[in-house]
Amino acid sequence: MHDLYAATILVVDDVPANTELLFEMLESAGFTNIHTSNDPYEGLALYERLKPDLVLLDYRMPGLDGVGFIRAAREMTSDAEPPILIVTAQNDEDSRRKALEAGARDYVTKPFAFWELLARTRTVLQLQLLYQGQRQQSEILDQQVRERTRELEETRHEIIRRLCTVGEFRDEDTGHHVVRIGRLSAELARLAGEPDEFVDMMLASAPLHDIGKIGVPDRVLLKPGRLDPEEMAIMRTHAQIGARILAGSGLSMLELAAEIALTHHERWDGDGYPAKLAGQAIPLSGRLVAVVDVFDALLSPRPYKQPWSIETTLAHLEASAGTHLDPHLTQLFLDNADTMIAIRAELADKAGDETGLT
Ligand code: C2E
Ligand code: SIN
Ligand code: SIN
Ligand code: FE
Repeated sequence: MHDLYAATILVVDDVPANTELLFEMLESAGFTNIHTSNDPYEGLALYERLKPDLVLLDYRMPGLDGVGFIRAAREMTSDAEPPILIVTAQNDEDSRRKALEAGARDYVTKPFAFWELLARTRTVLQLQLLYQGQRQQSEILDQQVRERTRELEETRHEIIRRLCTVGEFRDEDTGHHVVRIGRLSAELARLAGEPDEFVDMMLASAPLHDIGKIGVPDRVLLKPGRLDPEEMAIMRTHAQIGARILAGSGLSMLELAAEIALTHHERWDGDGYPAKLAGQAIPLSGRLVAVVDVFDALLSPRPYKQPWSIETTLAHLEASAGTHLDPHLTQLFLDNADTMIAIRAELADKAGDETGLT
C-alpha cells in the first residue's frame, strides 16, 4: 500500500476560510499532496485531472451542490463510489441520507473536532488505497490470465495447423482444403443453430478429419485413376486410423476431431463406412463434415478427377440429401450456398482450383 500521507487530497468548498482551515489541518497532520478549490466546477475539473484518493467536499455550494458533484464525479470516472467525504454544516437526516445515497463514503458535520476529521479522513483514505491496491492486483492477474490463455490458444491452433499439414501434404500443396473444411462446417453448424462453443470447436477440429490419410500408401492416395476395390478398402481405413491417432487424450477438441475422423464417411442411409451408422446415429459433427467435404471435394481437382462446376456440385448435393447426406443439413447448406461458395473462394488453392467458380 502507498504511503497514506502522500495520497492526493482535494478540498472543495465555496468558502475560502473553510478550504484554508482544512488545508492547514491536513498539512499539520502530515499530508503532503493537498489541492483546494472554491468553485465546484473547477473542483470537478481538478477531480478529473488529479484523480484524487480523497475529496473533502462541502455540501452546500452555489451552482453545484455536493450531491450534484458526486453524481458528476461518478459519471466522469465510472467509479461507482468516488472516495468522497462530505464536510458540512447541514446536519439534518435528509441531507445525510441524500449524500450517502449519492455515493459519499462518509459524512462529517461542522463544527467538527480536529481529531474527528482526521480519523475519518484516514479511514476513508485507507479503504480507498486498499481498494486501489486490490483493483491493481486483480488487473495484473486478469492480464496474466489473458496472456496465458492466448498463448495456450495459439499453441493449440499451431499444433492443429501443423497436424493438418501432416495429413495433407502428400495430396495437396497448400493445406487450404482442411482450413476450408473447418470454416465451412463451423458455418453450417452456426446455421443449424448450434451454440458458439460447438461452432468454435468445429472450426478447430474439422480440419483434422482426414489426418488418417497419413496411413494410406502413396500408390493408393496418389493414384491417378479410379481405385479398385482392394485399394478402396485401404483408402477407407483412413477413418479409423484418424480416430486412433486423435482419440483418448480427454481433450474435448481432440475428442471431437476423433469423432469427425471416424464418422465423416458414414452415410445417412447407412451405407457408409466404417460402421454403417445411419441417420441421427451418426454424430452431428460427422454429418456436418460429410456435407462440406463432398462439396469441397467435388469442386477440387483430385488425382483421379477434374473439378466439378458449381451447378453440378450443388445438384449432386441436392440428389445426395437423404441418401448419402443428412437431408436437413444439406438443405440448410443449399439455402446458404452463396455464403459457402464465398467462404470457399476466400480460401481457394490455386488458379486450377477455381474452375466452376468463375
Ligand atoms: P476426397 O477426394 O476428399 O473425397 C471426399 C468425398 O467426396 C468422397 O468420399 C466422396 O464422397 C466425395 N467425392 C469426391 N470425388 C467424388 C466424385 O468424383 N464423385 C462422387 N460421386 N463423389 C465424390 P469417398 O468416396 O469415401 O472417398 C474418400 C477419399 O478416398 C477421397 O477423398 C479420395 O482421397 C479417395 N478416393 C476416392 N475415390 C478415389 C479414386 O477413384 N481414386 C483415387 N485416387 N482416390 C480416391
Ligand atoms: C483431401 O484433401 O480430402 C483429399 C485430397 C485428394 O484426394 O487429392
Ligand atoms: C441434430 O442432430 O442436432 C440436428 C441436425 C440435423 O440432423 O439436421
Ligand atoms: Fe475423408
